[in-house]
Amino acid sequence: MRKKVTLITGAVGEIGQALIQRLSESGDIDLITLDLKPLPTGVPKNVVHVEGDILDDALLSRLVSEYEIDAIYHLAALLSTRSEFTPTMAHRVNVDGTMHLLHMAAEQSERSDKPVRFIFPSSIAAYGLPDLATKKRDVRVREWEWNNPTTIYGCNKLYCELLGSYYSRNYQQLAVKRPTMVDFRSIRFPGLISAFTVPSGGTSDYAPEMIHAAASRKPYNCFVREDSRIPFMAMPDAIEALIGLEKAAVRRLRRRVYNVTSFSLTAKQISLLVIKAFPGTEINFQPDLKRQGIIDSWPADLDDNAARKEWDWRPNYDAERTFDEYLIPNIRERYAR
Ligand code: SER
Repeated sequence: MRKKVTLITGAVGEIGQALIQRLSESGDIDLITLDLKPLPTGVPKNVVHVEGDILDDALLSRLVSEYEIDAIYHLAALLSTRSEFTPTMAHRVNVDGTMHLLHMAAEQSERSDKPVRFIFPSSIAAYGLPDLATKKRDVRVREWEWNNPTTIYGCNKLYCELLGSYYSRNYQQLAVKRPTMVDFRSIRFPGLISAFTVPSGGTSDYAPEMIHAAASRKPYNCFVREDSRIPFMAMPDAIEALIGLEKAAVRRLRRRVYNVTSFSLTAKQISLLVIKAFPGTEINFQPDLKRQGIIDSWPADLDDNAARKEWDWRPNYDAERTFDEYLIPNIRERYAR
């Protein structure tokens, strides 16, 4: 009998590392983690780590034949700023990679005669507001509004949401005439902030970079204007959101893609919280035109009522708790070491 497992791709990324820690602590599921790189903090007891490429079909087929994959958290992706520099590579990883994984999930669903749950982190980058006046007017954007991304990463995410929804509806019906489909569920995240890792290649990175720079007593040049405002979330809430959506009863879900959010601050407000925690930190605002343009196109806030209503989503960390209880103590300890 094949062993029942949950697969996590992009395991070495920020979300991946936090998710593995959270799921391996609970100890009740076996994980297969996949990344091009080894796990930086060692391999926990109930985890098998595979170093490999999500585009390697032979590897994915081997995993399906060796394990019964019950759920997939497909986290592997290039983030928004990096993707602008390497659009073909972004498309390959973000879109082709997702397509390969969806196909694998479909194959697995067929084998076990049960839909594999496919959890896909999408992003605020799926939105694209045309100008600052609109951003000021339409503050709490809902899932179906302003789906006009300006970045390749945003286009990739939006298209993969559609691909996932397609695989949930049609794939198996056409291919084998049996109603075992992929159970695709996606979350549009705001900017994420972790106390333990620093992101790379994202556009919302100014917030985490500012905090980590302050804790390591370095000055920080923020690449967006002081008045730039987007929503954010502490990493533990992002992990609970992913797990919450994975566990949600299918009969309650009326959509495949949900906004989630926690608090929405300007870059200036973040800098004031950082300076309060680390007095004397030098923060300058030196906007980078391209990255500023991306942030200006992202909503100032998200409406996450559907997630609240349909799968009881609630963030545990507001801005104050994120800084006072999660970021500051953990980051202080990290840099004191
Ligand atoms: N936070 C990510 C980025 O900035 C978007 O999902 O790229």
